[in-house]
Amino acid sequence: MCDGIDLVGESGFDGEWHVDGTSGHRSWRSRRIFRLSSGRTRIGRSEKARTGTSNPVLIPTYSPEKERRTLNKNVSVLIGSLRRGSYARKIAHNLINYFPDNYNASIIEIRNLPLYDFDYDDPQIIDKPTPPEYTLFRKTIKSSDGVLFVTPENNRTIPACLKNAIDIGSKPNNDVIWQRLPAGIISHSVGRMGGYSSQKNLRLALSYFNMPTPGQPEVFLSQSPTLLDADGHVTQESTVEFLQNYVSRLVQLIEQNTDSR
Ligand SMILES: Cc1cc2nc3c(=O)[nH]c(=O)nc-3n(C[C@H](O)[C@H](O)[C@H](O)COP(=O)(O)O)c2cc1C
Repeated sequence: MCDGIDLVGESGFDGEWHVDGTSGHRSWRSRRIFRLSSGRTRIGRSEKARTGTSNPVLIPTYSPEKERRTLNKNVSVLIGSLRRGSYARKIAHNLINYFPDNYNASIIEIRNLPLYDFDYDDPQIIDKPTPPEYTLFRKTIKSSDGVLFVTPENNRTIPACLKNAIDIGSKPNNDVIWQRLPAGIISHSVGRMGGYSSQKNLRLALSYFNMPTPGQPEVFLSQSPTLLDADGHVTQESTVEFLQNYVSRLVQLIEQNTDSR
């Protein structure tokens, strides 16, 4: 262990020319590249060059901000459909693949969340404890760096399962999991409207929580079955590019908001 960092070994050297400001003398300063147990590397000046000994010691020159940017990020993907053959779910599986390698985007199931009842969160009511499903869901979203909603439309608004999840996350008032969480929103429909009304209603429900969202273009996927092949893959190049672009903009937003929660 070195400075609380599990040091696995030294991976190599690199360096840079240093020019003395007064004499103009040029000298080569070697730096060691250290391999950490996390698989990442960290660069420090050669200990030998610094002290004359060769013990591998990390020189604390790295920037915590840069480090935070490169760490793995978690994105929770919420699907507004419970049915087995859901197109929203298939679309979500495609979207998950568009995230960068250091992103862990995964579907968080909402089907087992009991219907929202404020009694569970009311400290005055002691015979209705908070369901463990609420607690787990809240914890999962709170540990996320972003959320991606993929939803169809039911009767011109979002399906009840999704609204239920949003309501559960919106309480208690002093610990709202959605607060300032970057959010991507994608709607679809089997018809031509692309779930427009559903998406707008979702945005309305979230508007209370200061959630940064990617700007234009918004994503309304119309005639969704035609976008998917028999294996559930989005095949049309222009649609893939469009969705990849949306995911990139969400990732950018997450990177920009890393420290704001
Ligand atoms: C109760 C119900 C209401 C629906 N209302 C709408 C609607 O308002 N607008 C629309 O475009 N499609 C509507 N649909 C069609 C759904 O969008 C369609 O079934 C879609 O495939 C569901 O999404 P999924 O494939 O992700 O489960 C409705 C379907 C159901 C079951």
